[in-house]
Amino acid sequence: MKISNKLQKWVDECAELCKPDQIHWCDGSEEEYEKIADMLIKKGAIKKLNESKRPNSYYAISDPTDVARVEDRTFICSKKQEDAGPTNNWKDPAEMKKILTGIYDGCMKGRTMYVIPYSMGPLGSKIAHIGIEITDSPYVVMNMKIMTRIGTKVLDVLGDGDFVPCLHSVGYPLTDGKEDVAWPCNKEKYIVQFPEERSIWSYGSGYGGNALLGKKCFALRIASAMARDQGWMAEHMLIVGITSPDGVKKYIAAAFPSACGKTNLAMLTPTIPGWKVETVGDDIAWMKFGDDGRLYAINPEYGFFGVAPGTSYETNGNAMKSMEKNSLFTNVALTDDGDVWWEGMTKEKPDHLTDWHGNDWTPESKDPSSHPNSRFTAPASQCPVIDKDWENPKGVPISAILFGGRRASIVPLVNEAFDWQYGTFLGSSVSSEMTAAAAGTLGKLRHDPFAMLPFCGYNMGDYFAHWLSIGKKSDAAKLPKIFYVNWFRKDENGKFIWPGYGDNIRVLKWVFERLGGSDNYEDRPYGRIPSKGALDISGLDLNDDDMEKLFAVTKEEGTAEVNELREYFKKFGDKLPAELTEELNKLEERYNKM
Ligand code: GTP
Ligand code: SPV
Ligand code: MN
Repeated sequence: MKISNKLQKWVDECAELCKPDQIHWCDGSEEEYEKIADMLIKKGAIKKLNESKRPNSYYAISDPTDVARVEDRTFICSKKQEDAGPTNNWKDPAEMKKILTGIYDGCMKGRTMYVIPYSMGPLGSKIAHIGIEITDSPYVVMNMKIMTRIGTKVLDVLGDGDFVPCLHSVGYPLTDGKEDVAWPCNKEKYIVQFPEERSIWSYGSGYGGNALLGKKCFALRIASAMARDQGWMAEHMLIVGITSPDGVKKYIAAAFPSACGKTNLAMLTPTIPGWKVETVGDDIAWMKFGDDGRLYAINPEYGFFGVAPGTSYETNGNAMKSMEKNSLFTNVALTDDGDVWWEGMTKEKPDHLTDWHGNDWTPESKDPSSHPNSRFTAPASQCPVIDKDWENPKGVPISAILFGGRRASIVPLVNEAFDWQYGTFLGSSVSSEMTAAAAGTLGKLRHDPFAMLPFCGYNMGDYFAHWLSIGKKSDAAKLPKIFYVNWFRKDENGKFIWPGYGDNIRVLKWVFERLGGSDNYEDRPYGRIPSKGALDISGLDLNDDDMEKLFAVTKEEGTAEVNELREYFKKFGDKLPAELTEELNKLEERYNKM
């Protein structure tokens, strides 16, 4: 194993501070993975699933207080508060380092410190970047092996090059003979990014984006700051390839807030004949301009960390197939024959389960068997529709970008932006009902610009400006076209009007046709929508009235949205680009003329 002086020095410093009993450098091998799993099984921290039902797969349940990202404990510690902006928590970096150095002191006593070299993006690709995660959680090591490319091969590529240092501890030292628990964590949590230094310190949580530091901490918060400085984009987007019945293929990226349908759209099974969908990524896109002036995207990840509840062979068969083996499940329920189950996996509920608290569960039980943010970790390579270019170091050319959110009313099923500037405005205007992916109030409507509210590593106003500047870097004809979608509009009885899932291909089909220059659209004040009959709803149980409901925005509703947004934009002060105010004013005028 080739370890540079710089890397050795950082690891030594971390060891000196955290005081682990031993240090393990992860080589990334299958044997290592198995050894760690066996050790966790012996400790009672995880279970092996029934080998004949789900080969080489494991089951974990977390501490009931450590189940989702903790946004109120997430910090962007730039030197100036202004650079973190009004949407991020901020603390002076020196002050934060002082606090963290205090709590990390001895935090790994009695434990093993794992050093995980990992690559975000295909190994050696020019677009890829390397991180080193230090963690005292063997469960995190197992997840990182599925979610990123890890091990000795990464060190070989790294040489003495730059890496993003990521220090993670669950904050549960085994001092004075303290016994370990199945899911160690700490009530006090800190998820801290230092964007200038490009480093990450995470403390107290072992769950998801709090602990798998390659994902939100690096690939979005740190990478978005790198992207701003270097003229590229790091976005909370899925990437999907779509092939039409006549064999034309285009790639689309889509930004939806957490638990709003990225994984589902990324691998959907089309319900109309002749269309093909292939997956490049389901959560994060890094996009750079190619020499031809087009935006090319890579998926920096290697696996899916997907929401389990609601996932079934009917709604997302490709996700189900991706996790048939070599996968890891957290906070779902266990069946009596050693497999997993969650709400929505099958129409018929099993007669008996062990729920995510480890208690008996029957269909009569009051509470769901699985936590709403329970997740599967599965290798992307196992997705039956993984795109042939998903590991292409050059990335795939993006023809369209979709924004979306979870909105029960007002936001139409689909509309197209008039141009990049209005599209940027649409991205900035995204609001969505909160989900279980983050600790907070479920269902509460909040602004989530570009689905990046919890993930932008710098001032959101500057991020808006960065989007506008990207639009000036190439010709309009080469830039992706921008659309805004909403699968979640409800009728007066609270039922989703649009069937969603595989039927979302029908919306993608219209998008595809628009990309090809078709004029099957009509203008509404808020954007372009399919003209009558242009959206393929053949075979769906939707009448004209439903269709109107999916697109209707009254003058009053539209104006109220404009006013609300104007109020929200004040938050950004003079960081708000004038172009966005201009688009807001134009939108207001269009509603006035209605
Ligand atoms: P993160 O991994 O948190 O970023 O989430 P995501 O954006 O990948 O969301 P995902 O695809 O996992 O979907 C989250 C939830 O929304 C699941 O419970 C899905 O069943 C549900 N969902 C996804 N797509 C649709 C849709 O088209 N219509 C409806 N009604 N629900 C959907
Ligand atoms: C999200 O919350 O957007 C996720 C899950 O993709 S986590 O990895 O926990 O951030
Ligand atoms: Mn996500």
